[in-house]
Amino acid sequence: MSEPLGVALIGCGTVGGGVAKLLLEHPERLAARAGRPLALRRVVVRDLTKPRATRLSREILTTDLEQVIADPSVQVVAELVGGVEWARQAVLRLLAAGKDVVTANKALLATHGSEVFDAARKHGRAIAFEASVAGGIPIIAALTQSLAGNQILSLQGILNGTSNFILTAMTEQGQSYGEALKEAQARGYAEADPTLDVDGTDAAHKLAILAQIAFGMAVPLSAISRRGIENIDVIDIHFANELGYVIKLLAETWLHEGQVAMHVSPVLLRKHTPLAQVRGAYNAVAVIGDAVEDVLFYGKGAGMMPTASAVVADLIDLAIGRTQRTFQTLRLWSDNGPPLRVQPPASVKTRFYLRLVVDDRPGVLSEVAGILAQHHISIASVIQHEVPDDAEGQRVHLVIMTHSALTGNFRAACDRLDQLTSVASPSVHFPVED
Ligand code: NAP
Ligand code: HSE
Repeated sequence: MSEPLGVALIGCGTVGGGVAKLLLEHPERLAARAGRPLALRRVVVRDLTKPRATRLSREILTTDLEQVIADPSVQVVAELVGGVEWARQAVLRLLAAGKDVVTANKALLATHGSEVFDAARKHGRAIAFEASVAGGIPIIAALTQSLAGNQILSLQGILNGTSNFILTAMTEQGQSYGEALKEAQARGYAEADPTLDVDGTDAAHKLAILAQIAFGMAVPLSAISRRGIENIDVIDIHFANELGYVIKLLAETWLHEGQVAMHVSPVLLRKHTPLAQVRGAYNAVAVIGDAVEDVLFYGKGAGMMPTASAVVADLIDLAIGRTQRTFQTLRLWSDNGPPLRVQPPASVKTRFYLRLVVDDRPGVLSEVAGILAQHHISIASVIQHEVPDDAEGQRVHLVIMTHSALTGNFRAACDRLDQLTSVASPSVHFPVED
């Protein structure tokens, strides 16, 4: 067998711990797949006394990144720390020191992809990042290799395991948002700062990476409009259910007349559709290519071993030399690509779910319908449940499903509705996909 590939891990938390476990507990399996042993030489952490997922000898554990940078027996380093600035500096230094890099850090790639990829090209190194999107699902390999003959037309994904775990727990177990978030954190799904999970930023980071690969353009994070799940009210989950839908945090991008549309938002999905059935920390990505047509990828999107599976696959590809070849050919995050033309969100047409809290008195429904009509929005169905108490001053939920409408018109209508004295609180609305 050939010389071992010397590997170091920066970070040995949820993901790094899983990678160390696979490397140390299955060396023969990995050596057979890589054509040579993957030798774990060093593991950099903050706290040497913390318990780890697998037994690590005292000689390989260190708090000093310099030991990895200076170690000629380390050829590949997996950055599994997270955050942006420290990781950025570390990756740039590792590349300059002649190391190939594996990373699970979507925040780093979405915000500094061009810089770190340019640095890798400059130093003749490669960066592998399968674990950065959708955990254990091999979506990066699928887009860069298996579907390479296609023009990708659209990608739709449930890309944040934490949000999907929370929405599933709220929908199916009636758990509160706070309880479900705590459980997602305890299971190792959430980011160190879970705001990134629940406000749609983590899904937007992943969408920026996928869109960059699919369309060959640098996609700035600022081009992706995003909303998260942090303000989802359980009442909307109940109304969606009554209408035959579930609420999911969806990341979507598609080509439209030479422009790219992109957004992350909670949406109503019909219950029987494949993405609606993705539960817990599972992720899924539905891809449409011009040749292959529809393909669906499904698997665990977060957690220790699923994510470690993706990192170790990258280590094996680097050991074989596959990554270096695709990396040089694809020129990802290169400034040479065509300029990105983003479809303005206001011009996107979709159906909407709209919930208003209104005064239960004559004329209110016609007032609301009138404003929607003035904005060219046609109503598909309405729910207003009778309230038991017929008292004066009663308020009720008025739920309206629209036909397809321009987002710009719909938002303008909501602004008007929110000003009505008969509307008690800001309108709640989500796109609907059938
Ligand atoms: P984590 O559990 O918080 O682990 C972070 C590790 O980095 C810890 O071992 C920590 O050391 C170490 N670390 C932090 N700052 C350091 C520093 N300045 N110097 C040296 N070591 C440092 O995080 P994680 O969940 O594994 O996530 C790691 C990366 O993978 C992130 O980019 C995340 O977005 C990404 N990711 C995570 C998942 C998931 O399911 N968790 C899935 C896909 C991608 P100590 O242990 O000593 O504190
Ligand atoms: N926090 C991320 C999630 C980890 O919940 O999906 C996987 O990238």
